[in-house]
Amino acid sequence: MTATIKTAAVIGAGSMGSGIAAQFANAGIPVLLMDVAAATGPRNAAAEAGIARQLKAGGFMHPSRAALVTPCNPTDDIARLGEADWIVEAVVENLDVKRELFARVDAARAPGSIVSSNTSTIPLAKMIEGQSERFARDFLITHFFNPPRVMQLLEVVAGPATSEAAAATIRAAGEDVLGKTVLACRDTPGFIANRIGCFWIALAIIEEQRLGLTIEEADAVAGAPFRIPPIGPFGVLDLGGVDLVPHVWGSLQTLLPQSDLLWAYNLTAEPLIRRMIGRNLLGRKSGAGFYRLNRDGARRSRDVLDMATCEFRPERPVALPSLTAYGRDLRQLCEQDDAAGRYAWRVLSGLVRYSATVAPDIAGGIADVDVGMRLGYGWGEGPFQIADRVGAAWIAERLRAEGEAVPKLLADAAAAGGFYAGGTTLAAPAGSLAALRRGVVYENAGAALLDIGDGVACLEHRTKMNVFTPDVFATIGTALTEVPKHFRALVIGSDHPRAFSAGADLSVLLARIKAGDWAAIEAFLAVGQERFLALKYAAFPVVGAAFGLALGGGCEVLLHCRAVVAHADLTIGLPEASVGLIPGWGGCTQLLARWAREPGAVKGPLAPAAAVFPIILGARVSGSALEARDFATLGGQVTIVMSRRRLLETAKARALALVDTPAPPPEALFLSGASGKSALMAGARSQAALGAMSENDLAIAEALATVLSGGATDPLVAMTEQQVSALEREAVLSVARRPATVARIEHMLATGKPLRN
Ligand code: NAI
Repeated sequence: MTATIKTAAVIGAGSMGSGIAAQFANAGIPVLLMDVAAATGPRNAAAEAGIARQLKAGGFMHPSRAALVTPCNPTDDIARLGEADWIVEAVVENLDVKRELFARVDAARAPGSIVSSNTSTIPLAKMIEGQSERFARDFLITHFFNPPRVMQLLEVVAGPATSEAAAATIRAAGEDVLGKTVLACRDTPGFIANRIGCFWIALAIIEEQRLGLTIEEADAVAGAPFRIPPIGPFGVLDLGGVDLVPHVWGSLQTLLPQSDLLWAYNLTAEPLIRRMIGRNLLGRKSGAGFYRLNRDGARRSRDVLDMATCEFRPERPVALPSLTAYGRDLRQLCEQDDAAGRYAWRVLSGLVRYSATVAPDIAGGIADVDVGMRLGYGWGEGPFQIADRVGAAWIAERLRAEGEAVPKLLADAAAAGGFYAGGTTLAAPAGSLAALRRGVVYENAGAALLDIGDGVACLEHRTKMNVFTPDVFATIGTALTEVPKHFRALVIGSDHPRAFSAGADLSVLLARIKAGDWAAIEAFLAVGQERFLALKYAAFPVVGAAFGLALGGGCEVLLHCRAVVAHADLTIGLPEASVGLIPGWGGCTQLLARWAREPGAVKGPLAPAAAVFPIILGARVSGSALEARDFATLGGQVTIVMSRRRLLETAKARALALVDTPAPPPEALFLSGASGKSALMAGARSQAALGAMSENDLAIAEALATVLSGGATDPLVAMTEQQVSALEREAVLSVARRPATVARIEHMLATGKPLRN
């Protein structure tokens, strides 16, 4: 049985401690945040500054969550640690400071409470030296990544003395309460992700200098062909801070034997790094590192450090012919006998050789190393997946031909046909749709209806960014007829890494607008409205499992669900106005209906329209599920889960719990009519007079106001959802004909950003 965490404490309110405290608060857990007492002025100023920083940096999912964090200090308040079930230490990376603190923590904490350290490099064995037996039993390392709200990985190290109960509690709380993916690590320096990641950065920087590429060339070769974020190794170090090198790399080297390859790529001894630190070229934190960002009004550009002179020059477009030709085929790129090819090979072979050498010491299996690099460093694939893509045998052979040692793990993989060939597969993560699915009921190119067990079906989008296409609507149609025959409930969700659904496919819409195919557009709107309403009033419950992006149509389908289970980090909204449109699959209608139902909302026909108008016109999108409740894009029937992995199974349980509940009664919408529209437009015109809205914005406002006020309706006569939906279709078609809308859509497709015209 694992204990539950009801209250927590974090000691050290720096970038990590304040972020970890914010994540506890995001999970609804009250947390003490302690930092050193100020000698003068307010005693808790340091902890308060930590909270303020998190409010500014977006560490809280909702500003109200900051109230769950109590600032305090270990001089006046150490006894309060007795309130906490889990105490996380995140003070400076200094063993003596940590040890002294642990002794005081141990004296103050409650029996059975758990203490963990966020150390990046210090072994657990050293931290428990001299502490009580009781402390060692209740102590672990919990290594979060920066920023703690965003980064998915939590490395956990339990020592030989750590009790299994404490380890199990922290693993469960890390996953379910804080929403992280917990990776069990051995007590070795840098654990998994930083051990490999720090080596990779050192390797990439030193080989770049040996081969004479420019920084932007090296980042381009070491990025995309490896399926590693384009920021590249130099960009990553700029982000973390060049001044970390003596501390983090230095600490790793001190702890590792000289035989470790990290010594062969001795970044701490690099004259360049020393020169950069001496000249305060620390990266983003000091304004310049390997890159310097320039802002000239809206224009942004980068300067790049010239390694030889340590001066900056404008960034140059990368023009490496073999990168252009073979950027998508890493093996072919490595085979090219030029700077890009040689650099790609050195980085690849170094990375694979190091990973294969250290993996048996640092991880329970190769899959853990790959997970660590994907979640801790944001790589698309871990080193062993990259090696398999290129060919483990080919890598081993080339290393042998070059007279280099081939680690046993690589030699074995080469003989077996790959790291993942010998029966080791990347299992579908527990709770994923891939793990839950029992069979396929129906599928087409855009979506599938899957059996996920216990009488529940799942509608899975399979389009790019999970957009709605005719195929998706066809699958919804099939679900509406097949679910009542074979199932009790329907969940909508998928394993897509980024999007529940990004809405309509703008490129298809644009093509139809340009072709003047208004009938096709209207039909596409009508089918969406009809299918979504059918889901809303289906006799079986429909539960949305929302995560990532739920925009436009993605938000609209959720507005029609009987209940929604949302991942806490949900980005949801109706941003159609930013491309010159308004929601046309029932978004206006359902948001109006929801605001009319909101308990505590001002009553009367204009109040819901007045609330919805700025949300849609301003293209307001929430940064979290908690924030979405302010907009009512998530309503009363929402369950918020911190763990993405728990999302589908929670949605499935929620759907089963709703099986015998009736479908909602049809909405009767009393809208304000012409006078309401005038009131909405008066507000919009005064905004335009102040310069806050353009002519085009006013045209969108007019179309939206028509829908939200019910057109020419009589405020005393109820409208049906179908009637308001018809107004939505007309309004969308009216704004879609505007050249300004075409320009906005084209700009969004080209740049991913809204055009202000
Ligand atoms: P930081 O320097 O930003 O913050 C440390 C805070 O601890 C400071 O506010 C300091 O006043 C406070 N402090 C020092 N001694 C204290 C004491 N005895 N009692 C209470 N507060 C005390 O450091 P940062 O970056 O937040 O790192 C904290 C820990 O997390 C370190 O062990 C570090 O290695 C580790 N870590 C850091 C990561 C990062 O990206 N910055 C990532 C993962 C782990």
